[in-house]
Amino acid sequence: MINRIDISGVRNIDQLSFCPGEQINLLHGINGSGKSSILEAIYLLAAGKSFRSTKIAPLIQNGRKECSIFAKLDDSLAVGLLKGRNQKPLLKLQGERQPNWLEVARLIPVQVIDSNTFRLLEGSPKDRRKFLDWGVFHVEPSFVSHWRNSRKCIAHRNLLLKSGRPDMSQLRAWNIELCKEAALVDRARERYFTDFLPIFNDVLCKIGAIGDISITYRRGWDNELDLAEVLERSLSIDVKYGSTQNGPHRADIVVKSGGISAVDVLSRGQQKILVSILKLAQGAFQSKTESRRCIFLIDDLPSELDKNNRANICRFLQGLGNQIFMTCVDRESLENSWESTALVAQFHVEHGKISI
Ligand SMILES: Nc1ncnc2c1ncn2[C@@H]1O[C@H](COP(=O)(O)OP(=O)(O)O)[C@@H](O)[C@H]1O
Ligand SMILES: [Mg+2]
Repeated sequence: MINRIDISGVRNIDQLSFCPGEQINLLHGINGSGKSSILEAIYLLAAGKSFRSTKIAPLIQNGRKECSIFAKLDDSLAVGLLKGRNQKPLLKLQGERQPNWLEVARLIPVQVIDSNTFRLLEGSPKDRRKFLDWGVFHVEPSFVSHWRNSRKCIAHRNLLLKSGRPDMSQLRAWNIELCKEAALVDRARERYFTDFLPIFNDVLCKIGAIGDISITYRRGWDNELDLAEVLERSLSIDVKYGSTQNGPHRADIVVKSGGISAVDVLSRGQQKILVSILKLAQGAFQSKTESRRCIFLIDDLPSELDKNNRANICRFLQGLGNQIFMTCVDRESLENSWESTALVAQFHVEHGKISI
């Protein structure tokens, strides 16, 4: 949980500090006031990237050389980030410089629900793999190294394949390594998905009203065959494309509604409910299994949702008890959505400043 946050030089936020509540934090204000930028700053600190743009530089306020974000967590841990233009980010945990985001990402698990979350349904398998791997990362500490090793093997393999006439002994050596790492990545994903599924179905029942939804994990190669055999069989295709066509880098989650690809049949609003359910279920699962509970950043919840569905999601969120940062233009749009407003801290955002 975040107890205090200081943001400086992020988009239209000059300097802003506030102490969020332990449950729902509702940030309201007109378009362009800086609500999403607050969520973006929290995400940048927790995950090292933006959920709105691929580069961090556009986040730095025009005319400023750098931005900084600082957060105090509930157990007094302090995390700070300084990012200068054209400079590598400087991330510190308890004053100690961090070589990467691994530790901070584990300490501040964040789930974002915003207009890009639709990519979970309409985007490429990569988006769904990212979603799946976020969950596995948080419950299986060894996953990252196997995932990295498998990617390294694939990169080496692809280099050989691109030559058109790969050295077969080198290729076989990479195949052996890849098969070993791929099996570990697949098993971790499979285990995670098996445990995630009942949680997803439970959240679907609670928020639902979108019909018969099914989700299935695909590991990235034929279910009936060993990867070693698949790699042997697909050698000529791999050479033709100059890249590895089967493996854990091709894993996916198939989402269907009534047996048909969900993105082809659900309305935009229904899709928003479904992607929200996937994200909420994943955060709920993470919070159930790990000591550090996931923080939700929910950008513009009311858009594309009717009153009933807004209320279903808001009540579910309150029941979850996690810390949530949520934005909306008019707070009235969520007025009757809460079970109780006692634990809803409201903040007004205006010109990059925040007030109660
Ligand atoms: N690098 C930047 N420097 C200064 N202002 C910026 C920068 N990037 C975006 N902005 C401005 O910041 C404002 C806040 O945007 P945003 O947080 O998306 O608003 P909201 O979510 O409240 O609608 C916008 O008016 C936008 O034009
Ligand atoms: Mg916004």
